[in-house]
Amino acid sequence: MKRRDFLLSAAAGMAMLGLPPWARGSEHPAVFQLEAREGTANLLPVPAPATPVWQYNRQTPGPVIRIRQGDELQIPFRNGLSQPTSVHWHGLRITNDMDGVPGMTQSAIAPGEEFLYRFRPPDAGTFWYHTHNRSWEQMARGLHGTLIVEEPEPILVDQDMVWVIDDWLIDEAGKIEESSLGNLHDWAHAGRLGNLLTVNGRLRPEYRVRSGERIRLRLINVANSRTMSLRFNGVTPLVIAVDGQPLAPVELPRRELLLASGQRMDLIVDMGMDPGTRSVVEFFAGDQSLTAASLVVDSKQVLRESPLAAPIRLADNPLNRKLDIPGARAVDLRLEGGAMGRQREAQFNGRTLTTRELIEEKKIWALNGTAGLPKAPLFSVKRGQSVVLKMANDNSWPHAMHIHGHHFRNLDNDTGLAGAWRDTLLLEAGEQARMAFVADNPGKWLIHCHMIEHQAGGMVTWFEVV
Ligand code: C2O
Ligand code: CU
Repeated sequence: MKRRDFLLSAAAGMAMLGLPPWARGSEHPAVFQLEAREGTANLLPVPAPATPVWQYNRQTPGPVIRIRQGDELQIPFRNGLSQPTSVHWHGLRITNDMDGVPGMTQSAIAPGEEFLYRFRPPDAGTFWYHTHNRSWEQMARGLHGTLIVEEPEPILVDQDMVWVIDDWLIDEAGKIEESSLGNLHDWAHAGRLGNLLTVNGRLRPEYRVRSGERIRLRLINVANSRTMSLRFNGVTPLVIAVDGQPLAPVELPRRELLLASGQRMDLIVDMGMDPGTRSVVEFFAGDQSLTAASLVVDSKQVLRESPLAAPIRLADNPLNRKLDIPGARAVDLRLEGGAMGRQREAQFNGRTLTTRELIEEKKIWALNGTAGLPKAPLFSVKRGQSVVLKMANDNSWPHAMHIHGHHFRNLDNDTGLAGAWRDTLLLEAGEQARMAFVADNPGKWLIHCHMIEHQAGGMVTWFEVV
C-alpha cells in the first residue's frame, strides 16, 4: 500500500500506515519538509512517455499533508525551481503572514531560497495548497497538493480517499502544451482548459472497494480554470462538507455535482453495490461524458450486508457564524470584462486605460472598474465586523470567486447546498450573489477569481481587517 493511496480507517489505519507520530496529535509541532522542483509524471499510461511537470516532493499531485486539528504545522519549504514561487494554503484561516501571497504577505521565494511556513489551522477538513506566483503557469505545470486537517474524533469510515481532479493541456508528445501558456485568448474566455482529465495524476484510475464499505471521498478541483461536473453511477453520495466546512448531510441532487476551480467537497459513499460490479464516476458536459475514475467492487469479499449505522455528521468548526446582517458593511463588487463584455476602460496601476491599452498589459478583467490589485483596499473593516459582498457577474462568463482567510455564506441561492460555508463560489454569467462573512482574521486578504487566468488577467482585489 503506497502512502499516496491514503487508505485509512480511523485510528487503527493510521498506525498501520506508519504515519509519523504528529499525525496522531502531539504537543510538538508537526514538521513537513516541502520542496518544489522539476520532475516527470506518468499522466498517460505507460508506454506513453512521461510528462515533464513541476512537483512538490517529486509527486504529482503533491504529497497529502495530514495533521490533527489544533496542532501546529511547520513546513520548511525550499524552492528548487528556476522561477520565484510561494505556497498558499487554500481555505485555511491562518495568520496573514503565512498566506503565501507574494507582494502582499511575503516576498516571492527566489530559486534556491527557503521559507518557513508555520501555522495552526483552526478548522478540520479538506484543504489544499498551491503556488501563488505566476499561478497561471506554475499551477498548469502541476504545483498543488492536499492538506487534510483531521477531526479530533473522525467519523467512522472504512476508507478515507482523496481525489485530486485536474485537467492538463498536453501535446501529442505528452508534454505540457507550452505555446498556449499565457495565451490572451484563453484569458479572455473560459481560461486555459485542458485535454486530459486526471484523478490523483492518473487517467481513469480504478479504486478497489468492498461491498458494504463506507468511503469518505474528498474531492478537490485543482484545475486552472475548468469547472468539473461529475456524475456518480450506482451509488448515492451524501455531501458532508463543502470547502472544508461541515454541513448537515444531504444527498447529491441527481447524483451530480459541480466543482469549480479551488472548491472541495467531502462525500460519504456507502458501497451498496454487488461484488464484481463497478461504480463509474463520469465527467460530463451536456450529453457527452467520459470516465473520471471508477470504484471497483471486489468480486468475493463482502464487508457488510447493510450500511454502517455510525453517524456521519461532522462536528462544526470554530468558525464565527454569527452574522450581523443589518449591521453588516455592504460592499458592491462588479465582475467586468472579458470577451464579449461591455467594458470600455478600466483603472490599472492608478491610470485610466482604454480596452486596447489594457490588452497590451494583459488586463482584460476588472472588479469595480479596476484591473489588477489596487493600491488601496476595496474595503477596510475592524476585526469582528460582518461584511456582505454583493457580487454582480456583469459579463459573459462564469467565475469562481475566492476569498482568502475567511469562509462565507451565500445569502442567495446555493444550488441545493443552502447554508454551506464556502471559500469559493461559482457564479454563472449574469448571476448575482451576496456573500456574507464575519471579517475576524486580521490582515490583508485577496478576493479573486479562482479561474486562474481570470485572476492573472486582472480579476483580483483585496480587503483589510484591522
Ligand atoms: Cu487557491 Cu488565491 O487561491
Ligand atoms: Cu473568472
